[in-house]
Amino acid sequence: ELGGYEHYMLKEIFEQPDALSTCLKGRLDMNNYKIILGGIENLSRQLTTAKRFILTGCGTAWHACLVGEYLMERLARTPVEVEYASELRYRNPIIEEGTVVIAVSQSGETADTLAAIEMCKERGATVLGVVNVVGSTIARTTDAGVYLRVGPEIGVASTKAFTAQVAVLTMMAIELGRRRHLDNARTEQLITDLNKIPNIINDVLKYSDMIKDISKECGDRENWLFLGRGYNYPTALEGALKLKEISYIHAEGLPAAEMKHGPIALINDGMPAVFIATRCSNYDKIISNIEEVRARGGKTIIIANEGDEEIERYADYLIRIPNVDDALEPLVAAIPLQLLAYHCAVLRGLDVDKPRNLAKSVTVE
Ligand code: F6R
Repeated sequence: ELGGYEHYMLKEIFEQPDALSTCLKGRLDMNNYKIILGGIENLSRQLTTAKRFILTGCGTAWHACLVGEYLMERLARTPVEVEYASELRYRNPIIEEGTVVIAVSQSGETADTLAAIEMCKERGATVLGVVNVVGSTIARTTDAGVYLRVGPEIGVASTKAFTAQVAVLTMMAIELGRRRHLDNARTEQLITDLNKIPNIINDVLKYSDMIKDISKECGDRENWLFLGRGYNYPTALEGALKLKEISYIHAEGLPAAEMKHGPIALINDGMPAVFIATRCSNYDKIISNIEEVRARGGKTIIIANEGDEEIERYADYLIRIPNVDDALEPLVAAIPLQLLAYHCAVLRGLDVDKPRNLAKSVTVE
């Protein structure tokens, strides 16, 4: 079952090119540059005219929602709010006509997400699901939805489901944008580039051994920071969560500029700080954040674009990813972070597929 991999998590990380191809397959119309999501087609009018979206989920799924917020706001110019399902269900959210809720869940069984869906439905919202497990409770409870189609995810730490959740939200945002205001050239370019993402992920997976070497040098440290901006701020949160979950290292993910509002006090000699510093995401600003970390003795692990020479002098460790449209970057930048967490945990001798205290689906509150 492991197909030669040492753990399900590693297998699922390496499955991502195929899993995402399956997720995108038949959904990208490369002739007419449209996106076809059969599960929500009936609601397309309602989605196009929606006044506001609420994206909700827990943990990794919530991180995917955050990426979705940036995408829908930027590409579809629509108001979006992201809320943890566990908070949404106990708030008194304002749900008016034209509010659409999108609930994201790998298992389709998360208790808080389900409760939030039920509450929003009672208040009259249309609720869509972005779910992996076919026929799961959330898939059955939502009004309509889009399946991830990545196959079973067995490793407790979510990997391929995360990238597929982001891919589905990306498709929704592009299609919504296309129907609303995106010009044809931009739509074509996004769909063309999205179609190439599985191959690009394949290229990034080749860095696994190099990332293992970085883990050997930094994996003994107990406190890490993960920093990114824009589309890659949620990616930073996801990188930190992966590391916490399976290697039990304390890690904090932040939008990079927030560092100086407090967390910078944590930085001491040799503390690893992982930066996603691609050309797209406010590059110059993030360079100054990197300098601040280095000035305090932090060790920088930088994810940067191929061909960026300027970055070399700022990096203790450098991981290069291909240039992609910034809207698609989380799909690529997440991969080295998954590998980093994996290798750190393995080097610590931990059971990466079944980390302590965690269950694959959280069906109690
Ligand atoms: C992280 C992880 C959890 C889940 C969360 C939601 O690796 O696995 O944070 O993402 O419990 O689970 P689902 O997506 O099944 O609703």
